[in-house]
Amino acid sequence: MNILILNGSPRPHGGTKAMVDAFATAAEEVGHEVHLFNVASLSIAGCRACEWCHTKGDGRCAFRDDMDLIYDVWDEADMIVLASPVYYGSLTGQLHCALHRTYAPGIPERATKTALFLCSGSPDVYEASERIYHGFVQGYFGTEDCGIFAATTDEAKSEAMAERLRELARSL
Ligand SMILES: Cc1cc2nc3c(=O)[nH]c(=O)nc-3n(C[C@H](O)[C@H](O)[C@H](O)COP(=O)(O)O)c2cc1C
Repeated sequence: MNILILNGSPRPHGGTKAMVDAFATAAEEVGHEVHLFNVASLSIAGCRACEWCHTKGDGRCAFRDDMDLIYDVWDEADMIVLASPVYYGSLTGQLHCALHRTYAPGIPERATKTALFLCSGSPDVYEASERIYHGFVQGYFGTEDCGIFAATTDEAKSEAMAERLRELARSL
């Protein structure tokens, strides 16, 4: 299975990355191919709503930046994982930019599964991110929801969370 992970955290050693690494390592160990994009380290602008993708572009975005790296694998992904710290009660701006730019290709051709990883400073701050995930990602794509894994920073880096994410990877 091809697994596309969009990690919205700018921290290379933060809680979100710990969750991503636990999942990705286990997924590769059982034979899945993981395409991990740390979108906060890439140059990805927001959607400019020019609608070229839906008029002349035949699903291609008019603008060239690092989003091209994600477009290259978008329709090859069997599973899409969104991972993000909670910023102001929602996903990071960097992840939002990448998500909005998927407006061009739209529903990924092969994806049948999605999951959401969240990391936050406080507990119980996940409602808006969950709504985006269920409404505009898992619901829109029509994918099986493989779970929402939400944790505060320390919990995100814990062995208990790593094991839950390894179990997810092994279950795919
Ligand atoms: C700009 C910004 C906004 C944040 N907003 C929230 C928030 O609304 N709720 C919350 O619980 N934590 C908030 N935090 C804290 C982060 O979610 C927390 O530090 C998290 O562990 C970061 O994940 P990371 O370690 O993967 O970078 C915010 C942090 C930043 C930098």
